[in-house]
Amino acid sequence: MSVLDRLEVPIVLAPLAGGPSTPELAAAVSEGGGLGFLAAGYLTAAATRERIAALRELTARPYGLNLFVPGAPSDPASYGDYARRVAAEREGAGEPRFEDDDWAAKLALVEDVAPPVVSFTFGCPSAGEIARVRAAGSEAWVTVTSPQEAETALAAGADGLAVQGSEAGGHRGGFTDAPDVALFSLLPLLQLIAADTDKPLVAAGGIATGGAVAAALCAGASAAAVGTAFLRAREAGTPAAHREALATDRPTGFTRAFTGRLARGIRNRFMDEHPDAPLAYPEIHHLTSPIRRAAREAGDGESINLWAGEAHALAEERPAAEILAGLATGAREALARAERRLSEGAP
Ligand SMILES: Cc1cc2nc3c(=O)[nH]c(=O)nc-3n(C[C@H](O)[C@H](O)[C@H](O)COP(=O)(O)O)c2cc1C
Repeated sequence: MSVLDRLEVPIVLAPLAGGPSTPELAAAVSEGGGLGFLAAGYLTAAATRERIAALRELTARPYGLNLFVPGAPSDPASYGDYARRVAAEREGAGEPRFEDDDWAAKLALVEDVAPPVVSFTFGCPSAGEIARVRAAGSEAWVTVTSPQEAETALAAGADGLAVQGSEAGGHRGGFTDAPDVALFSLLPLLQLIAADTDKPLVAAGGIATGGAVAAALCAGASAAAVGTAFLRAREAGTPAAHREALATDRPTGFTRAFTGRLARGIRNRFMDEHPDAPLAYPEIHHLTSPIRRAAREAGDGESINLWAGEAHALAEERPAAEILAGLATGAREALARAERRLSEGAP
């Protein structure tokens, strides 16, 4: 039995690193009967431990913790020109550097704390690492963006898969980034993976209404993961300039300009000025991080990463519990409508 089978509402708060993912937001979703998630990405293991403790002050219900799986350093020759250009254009650029997001210490933390669910993104942990997480008592989920990645994750022992379609906001969570990386939309991807496994699938990407939650469940998911639709929630730590952009109907696009890894965000000047940014994560993340911090503080939405899924215009500024309840009610209504149509036929 999965943690998902014990939820009152089959909705997961997608992990949202870089600010939005507060303990308050995760707790509100868990308390509402869904599954709240904390994002450990960019945090030290010590800061992650503090977030878990803060969450545990707010709820005793199940939650998930999301970790970035480290990749390999990039050749400085591949990003040197870009780094020099950005440093010449903007004040306060950082030094590009590789690090592993405190991987070993975070795995040790997981073994100590045993969150009910631990999900991984940016790669597939080894079978041994997944076994350690499971031995601690956690469910291990792996984020996948293709049927091949799903096969690899299941072979490594994953208990469940976070299935991320190309509509999703934020970074592509797949195992590799490449110039010609294949992009599957959520519904095709979900159907392809569901045809091959009975393990629980959590569907993510562009889900912003109850109807879309219902669609994901009908296409084989055990739960829908919702990210962007919670970014304007009162409890989210989303910066003001990001909230403002979410409330518009500005288009999204893919970029590597901010971090060196493909991600979907609302198009802005920095993205448009750097269409050929190299593949070098986390080196480029560290290059632009101080620039983005200063821009965030100045309320400059043209120089920060405005991560958002394709349906961002539907995100609402409300308490998270209301957003969650609205999605659950909307899903029931959408299913009843679909049922009526199926039994009565089209008029
Ligand atoms: C601001 C932001 C931060 C994100 N951070 C993470 C993260 O730390 N780990 C992860 O696995 N996915 C991350 N994602 C992707 C989401 O977990 C999820 O796949 C996505 O939000 C689903 O699509 P939607 O945004 O259209 O709902 C992030 C997405 C956004 C918008």
